[in-house]
Amino acid sequence: MTFDGFETLAIHAGQEADTETGAVVVPIYQTSTYAQDGVGGLRGGYEYSRTANPTRKALEECLAALESGARGLAFASGMAAEDTLLRTVAGPGDHVIIPGDAYGGTFRLFSKVLERWGVAWEAVPQTDPEAVRAAIRPETVAIWTETPTNPLLNITDIEALAGIAHDAGALFVVDNTFASPYLQRPLALGADVVVHSTTKYLGGHSDVVGGALVVADPELGERLAFHQNTMGAVAGPFDAWLALRGAKTLGVRMDRHCANAERVAEALLHHPGVSEVIYPGLAEHPGHKVAARQMRAFGGMLSFRLRDGEKAALRVCERTQVFTLGESLGGVESLIEHPARMTHASTAGSPLEVPGDLVRLSVGIESGDDLVADLLAALD
Ligand SMILES: Cc1ncc(COP(=O)(O)O)c(C=O)c1O
Repeated sequence: MTFDGFETLAIHAGQEADTETGAVVVPIYQTSTYAQDGVGGLRGGYEYSRTANPTRKALEECLAALESGARGLAFASGMAAEDTLLRTVAGPGDHVIIPGDAYGGTFRLFSKVLERWGVAWEAVPQTDPEAVRAAIRPETVAIWTETPTNPLLNITDIEALAGIAHDAGALFVVDNTFASPYLQRPLALGADVVVHSTTKYLGGHSDVVGGALVVADPELGERLAFHQNTMGAVAGPFDAWLALRGAKTLGVRMDRHCANAERVAEALLHHPGVSEVIYPGLAEHPGHKVAARQMRAFGGMLSFRLRDGEKAALRVCERTQVFTLGESLGGVESLIEHPARMTHASTAGSPLEVPGDLVRLSVGIESGDDLVADLLAALD
């Protein structure tokens, strides 16, 4: 008999009880090195913690199971995971397609770091898969997507883009940070690599910065593990442990994030000061049908625009009491932010610039009544 339900894997995959002590929780192996029984006589296969560490390994195995992948790799941050991936699969002369509204940090990695290193890139709106196909060049080595996107919550069709990437012999990468593996499993829909900022829903408690890659192909997993060790931006043992502890409750937390976000979306829809509510769960969202097909539910992220422009958006951000004004997302506590001046400030003046009247919410798992009341009071 196999026990492979999502919540069971989240609690048990990679997390056998300790054989010596019976400890049910994987310990924090806060060690840099390991004693050897004679030269090369490794007791548990470990020699140095940049290369491998038992706590990090438990997290990596758990993430691989949650994403139905062949191998997981844990990093010091989502950006470290992205950088390691891109410098493994792309080099000078290569070309990568990214979303027209990519996460600001991803955009900055391409525009300020990889471009100088000779990697060409192009930001293409990906809600129309044919626009992505048209942007492919002979030197395109990867198509990078995010869905839902940050902060505009655009939805891209994972299966369609996987087909387009593979027709062109390119790797298809999905940043699954916003959905989490509980809501969406890109590898099962044809993606080659899943990227996570484990800082967000996987960690879930705003107490750790981390990143991960999960791949379908073990050979690519080996190449990435080589670069992970060579470049060295690994998750430390305590950070890996926090992310692993967060992952255990991902399913129940996501159910509540989604339920609260749906309630908030409904409440904002009827507010006269709000010109648009952007949430993939709403039937009028242009990506609703695709989201309903590829996601279990519609997530805890929601953006909205203010009829009275940027000043009104800034005012709401500064007036909420339960929603904390702050960057990041995916934690149990609700957060509010102004993307144009905060998380996406680096996109100013670029084609990826976000509107000033936009407010982004990371809807937490507090009482839904309190969250709605807080927003309505801030909007008055
Ligand atoms: C969609 C997305 N990808 C990647 C990252 C980068 O992750 P980190 O902040 O852990 O480096 C973020 C951070 O906000 C994000 O929102």
